[in-house]
Amino acid sequence: MNTDVIITVENLVKRFNSHTAVDGVSFEINRGEIFGLLGPNGAGKSTIISILCCLLEPTLGSVVIDGSDIRKNANNIKKIIGVVPQEISLYHTLTARENLAFYGKIYGLSGRALKSRVEALLDMVGLTERADDLLEGYSGGMKRRINIAAALLHEPRILYLDEPTTGVDPQSRRRIYDTIQDLNRQGMTVLLTTHQMEDAEKLCHRIAIMDKGKLIALDTQKGLMELVGESDLIHVLAPEILPGPVESIKRMPGVQKVSLDDGNMTIQLLRGRESLVGIIDILTSSKTQVESIYIKEPDLETLFLHLTGTKLRG
Ligand SMILES: Nc1ncnc2c1ncn2[C@@H]1O[C@H](COP(=O)(O)OP(=O)(O)OP(=O)(O)O)[C@@H](O)[C@H]1O
Ligand SMILES: [Mg+2]
Repeated sequence: MNTDVIITVENLVKRFNSHTAVDGVSFEINRGEIFGLLGPNGAGKSTIISILCCLLEPTLGSVVIDGSDIRKNANNIKKIIGVVPQEISLYHTLTARENLAFYGKIYGLSGRALKSRVEALLDMVGLTERADDLLEGYSGGMKRRINIAAALLHEPRILYLDEPTTGVDPQSRRRIYDTIQDLNRQGMTVLLTTHQMEDAEKLCHRIAIMDKGKLIALDTQKGLMELVGESDLIHVLAPEILPGPVESIKRMPGVQKVSLDDGNMTIQLLRGRESLVGIIDILTSSKTQVESIYIKEPDLETLFLHLTGTKLRG
C-alpha cells in the first residue's frame, strides 16, 4: 500500500433505480492534499461524498480510506472524517456557541475540553464576537463557517466540504478559503466539491472534473490547462464592426477562430499578447469604433467547455 495515498476510490458506481449517478469513477487522494471535485449540477459530486462518509452504499466498486474499507470498517472511518454537508445542518433557535457545544457532546466531548475546543473553533472561523447570537440572525456565509467548525470538533484527519462557498458573501468566502488553507497547512487532507471555478482554482492542489457521473479529467490546474493548449481569447466589443476587418483578423497568424455575436467579437488565438497590437491596428485603420478589448487567458471554464461542449454554470 502506498502510504502517501489516504483515499482510494476504484470503479465506483452508484445507481438510483435506473439512473446512474456515479458511473465508474476512480481516483486517489494523497495525504495532506486539497482535492477538488468540480462539476455542474447533478454531476454526482454529493453522491460520492455520501459514499465516502459511509452514509450511502455503493452499487459497485471499492473505497479504502486510511487503510479501512467503507464496507467493512465504517466505524474506523467515521472517527477520522469531518463532514460539512451541502445543506446547513444547524439549529436556528440556538446560538452558535450552543450549536457547537451540542455537536461536541455528540462526539463525546464534555467539561473543559469541550469548552476550549468550541472557543478555539469559534476563533478559527472568526465568529467569537457573534457566538452568542442565535443562528437565525446569521448570514449564509456565517452559518457555513459555523458548519465548518461543527465538522472539526472531533479533530478529524480528513475533511469533506460539499460546496463550501455556495450562497456565501465575498468576505465569508475569503475567510472559508483561509480556514481551509490553515487546516491543510496543519496536515488536514481536504476533499471539496464545487461548481465554482474560483474555489477549485484558489484552493485545490489537484482537480477532478466530473460530468454526468463520469470523471472526465484529473490533474493539477496547470496540467488541466495544458489540455486546452496555449490558446488565449481576445474579446472585442465593437457594435458596428464591418466584414472587412473581421476577414483581416481571420487571416492573421495564430488566429484559430473568430466568432461574432451582436457586436461582441471573440478571437481564439495562439499567443494572444503578441497579436494584440496587430488586431488593434486593423481595427483603427478600418475606423472601427471599439468600446472595449481584453485578453482572457484560458481557465477551467474554458476547459470544461472544451471537454464537454457545455458551460459549467447552468
Ligand atoms: N437519493 C437519490 N435518489 C435518486 N436520485 C438521486 C439521489 N441522490 C442523487 N440522485 C441523482 O443523482 C444525480 C447526481 O446527484 P448529486 O447530488 O450527486 O449531484 P451533484 O454533483 O452533487 O449536484 P449539485 O451540484 O446540484 O449539488 C442527480 O441526477 C440526482 O438527481
Ligand atoms: Mg451536490
